[in-house]
Amino acid sequence: MPLVTTTEMFKKAYEGGYAIGAFNVNNMEIVQGITEACAEEKAPVILQVSKGARAYANHNYLVKLVEAATICYPELPVALHLDHGPDFETCKSCIDGGFTSVMIDASSKPFEENIEITKKVVEYAHEHGVVVEAELGTLAGVEDDVQVAAEDSSYTHPEQVEEFVSRTGCDSLAIAIGTSHGAYKFKPGTKPQLRFDVLHECEKRIPGFPIVLHGSSSVPQEYVEMVNTYGGAMPGAIGVPEDQLREAARSAVCKINIDSDLRLAMTGTIRKFFAEHPDKFDPREYLKPARANIKELVRHKLIDVLGCNGKA
Ligand code: G3H
Ligand code: 13P
Ligand code: ZN
Repeated sequence: MPLVTTTEMFKKAYEGGYAIGAFNVNNMEIVQGITEACAEEKAPVILQVSKGARAYANHNYLVKLVEAATICYPELPVALHLDHGPDFETCKSCIDGGFTSVMIDASSKPFEENIEITKKVVEYAHEHGVVVEAELGTLAGVEDDVQVAAEDSSYTHPEQVEEFVSRTGCDSLAIAIGTSHGAYKFKPGTKPQLRFDVLHECEKRIPGFPIVLHGSSSVPQEYVEMVNTYGGAMPGAIGVPEDQLREAARSAVCKINIDSDLRLAMTGTIRKFFAEHPDKFDPREYLKPARANIKELVRHKLIDVLGCNGKA
């Protein structure tokens, strides 16, 4: 089937108490690993592309790789989404260039300015049959070239969500409840805990409306150890506990973003391969196990965290 928007996916996910996985893609092996798992598990999927991914791989390559996945798996619903669109022009370029969903991330701007920019993107997107994710609240961590310190992050104010959604006309809303981008989400020795009170306050004010969680990698310690064992140095890398993500997926959270976990799986696997096979230099030989581990990690997320297996 052709690329789809997230409208139907989110409606079913909301009603069914599960979430759709939104995985970042940057190259062919990542697209293949994710979509092979989703096809086998019959899980609808959102493949998302950041500004950095477009700069690295080129818009056209990424669109064609994702379209190739829809040809390989004609039964699988796939949405192609712009992750953290920084401005109207980037969103427009993705809307014009084949994406079915875009995020406008004006969350670092004052409330009124966020509304104004989001509204402009929504108008253009909806005229072209594309849906829009917006964001209220600021996550800590690294997104593209922007780094937000933990002390500058802020939880979403639930009292703002209703006005924001109705004035912008956005189709889904990313909120900040304690997740953050990257592999260092919580200080070692502290107890990672999402603010479910903030989530529930938000969902009460916009019933039926799909909520999105960014920064939701769980940073599997198995892969952190693999990286560290084979020459890497990622001390204190900690993610969001998977049981908390599962709980979120049962609520109004319909989309959960995962990128760092796939990076870790790929990097750990490649480091291990090189350490064990110092004579090998064929990229296919080291990318093959990396792709296989991405696939198994995604399968685990679909079944044990998102609950979206069997929903396609
Ligand atoms: O939220 C950020 C995503 O993990 C994408 O990361 O901007 O390095 O491609 P990136
Ligand atoms: P992670 O860094 O936790 O994987 O978050 C990814 C993300 O939110 C992409 O927008
Ligand atoms: Zn994000």
